[in-house]
Amino acid sequence: MATIRINNATYIKSNPSNTLLETMENAGLEPEYNCRDGHCGACRCELVSGEVEYVGFAMAYTPENSVLPCICRAKGDVELSNVNYRLKEKQA
Ligand code: FES
Repeated sequence: MATIRINNATYIKSNPSNTLLETMENAGLEPEYNCRDGHCGACRCELVSGEVEYVGFAMAYTPENSVLPCICRAKGDVELSNVNYRLKEKQA
């Protein structure tokens, strides 16, 4: 199964039916987001390697090599950097 490498530190399994944002959340991460619809740019990060497919229209500024995880899915192994996230706190 394809993997998503995040900030050169974390690996998670890729789920091609979910967006990158949803995949990170399902893996126990809390990535930064706001609109979840390609408008605000809060989720923006860099695509170091791999390919993504957009499932929505990117309205936020996305410089070259940047992606909006809320509206794209991994097409295979993907490496991202500058992802702002923290680990979900475990509930007792
Ligand atoms: S959360 Fe707003 S562009 Fe991704």
